[in-house]
Order: sequence, then C-alpha cells, then structure tokens
Amino acid sequence: MNVLITGANRGIGLGFVQHYLAQGCDVWATCRSDYGGLADIDSPRLHILQWDVISDKDERYLQAMAVPDRLDLLINNAGIYGPKKTHGQSFETVTAETMQVVFEVNCVGALKVSQLLASRVISARGVIANISSKMGSSEDNSSGGCYAYRAAKAALVIVSRSMAVDLAADGVNVITLHPGWVSTDMTNHSGLIDVATSVKGLATVIENIEQYQPGAFVAFDGKVVPY
Ligand SMILES: NC(=O)c1ccc[n+]([C@@H]2O[C@H](COP(=O)([O-])OP(=O)(O)OC[C@H]3O[C@@H](n4cnc5c(N)ncnc54)[C@H](OP(=O)(O)O)[C@@H]3O)[C@@H](O)[C@H]2O)c1
Repeated sequence: MNVLITGANRGIGLGFVQHYLAQGCDVWATCRSDYGGLADIDSPRLHILQWDVISDKDERYLQAMAVPDRLDLLINNAGIYGPKKTHGQSFETVTAETMQVVFEVNCVGALKVSQLLASRVISARGVIANISSKMGSSEDNSSGGCYAYRAAKAALVIVSRSMAVDLAADGVNVITLHPGWVSTDMTNHSGLIDVATSVKGLATVIENIEQYQPGAFVAFDGKVVPY
C-alpha cells in the first residue's frame, strides 16, 4: 500500500508515518524543511518529500521525486494553530491576516495537495483523509474564541465533504478526521491522549471507512462528530 502524509516530521503526522511503515506500507512523508523525527527512521520504504502545502507544486516535481502513479491513501495532516488564544485569536485581537494565513494552510493547502495528487488516488481507488478538528464543529463550540483556527478547520470539513461527493464516481473515499486532544507541539504537550493512541484510532477509522457516509467527520474513537 502506498501512503502519502503531509506535515510528517513531527506530531500526529510523524505518528502516521511510523504506523504505516510498521504495517509494511511504502510511505511518502512530506515536510517543509526540518526532517525532524523522519531523520531517525531508517527504512527503505520511507520516501521524504520537501513540500510546503501552500506552495505550488506540479506534476514535474512529483515525477522528479518518484511519487508513484498509485496512492492508496493521502492524509492531509499539515496544519497550524496560529497565534495562541491570548495573543491574537480573540474577538478583539484577531486580524484579517491571521484569518487568511491559517485558512490558507489548514484548508487551501489540503485542497491544493488533493487536486495535485487526485489522479494517483483515483488510480488506486484510494482514500483521502483530511485532518480537521472538533474545534471546527459549530455544534461543539460553546467556548467561542479561536476565530482563525475554528473557521479554517470548519472550512476544511466543508471542502472535504465536497471532495467526497465529487470523487465518489471515481471510486475515491474521502473522510474528515478529528484526532482527539493530543499531546504534541500544537497543544504544548497538554493533550489528553498520546500520538500513538490517536493514530491507532484514526487508522482504524480509515480502515473501516465504508461504514461511514462519504465526507463524514469522525473522531479517533470512531464516533461521528456533528458539525
Ligand atoms: N494536537 C491536537 O490535539 C490536534 C487536535 C485536533 C486537530 N489537530 C490537527 O492535527 C494535525 C497535526 O497536528 P499536530 O498536533 O501534530 O501539530 P504539530 O505538532 O504542530 O505539527 C504540525 C505539522 O504540520 C506541519 N506544517 C505546518 N504548516 C505547514 C505547511 N505550510 N506545509 C507543510 N507542513 C506544514 C508542521 O511542519 P513544520 O515542522 O515545518 O512546522 C508539522 O509537521 C493538524 O492539522 C492539527 O490542526 C491536532
């Protein structure tokens, strides 16, 4: 099985790399510049790509990097939180620039990567998994704030659902995932679960994707997230 994961040098992305390598998959792991934890992995099945998801990559780059013609699984994991709650995502302080930057990485980035890799996922009749967050669920939002992150992750849920509808005829399954509150740099390692627990749950959801509606929003524990 061929798997491509964005934002794979640390956190949940790195956890996905370790999980799918352990399953015997060939993994294309993307990072911006720092190899991070990828540098410690010694496996002929690991292929590292330099890829900022907001940059414009093209077919020539994919061919130069020997990205295979068939991808069974694309995980759009790369994401940023943006300024911390107290420093710029409150009603009073959030700026248009913050809204745009976080939107571009968390939503547009996943769409651009999917557009570029779509023919390969279609060839494998594969899966696209978009990593959103429960913070993008309106129904779950009782605490307010976090304007940029919430809006960008909500937009990703909607984009993911459209992808699910549009690619269904090509045999591609698309799902949106919530990893839980996970101990990573993003949460200053204050999460409720560790990366391995999150990734194990998310991989099980992906494996059982046929049980869910196209474009469903599902948490690491298999529960559908209302949005
Ligand atoms: N941790 C949680 O509790 C939690 C909860 C809900 C959802 N999520 C989502 O899960 C995903 C992974 O989060 P995490 O906790 O593992 O975060 P993390 O530890 O901060 O890692 C984020 C990853 O995304 C990469 N990235 C950021 N901007 C990028 C860009 N423009 N192009 C390519 N890669 C980029 C980072 O690369 P660099 O090293 O180059 O910065 C890093 O590899 C994110 O989408 C996040 O929003 C996390």
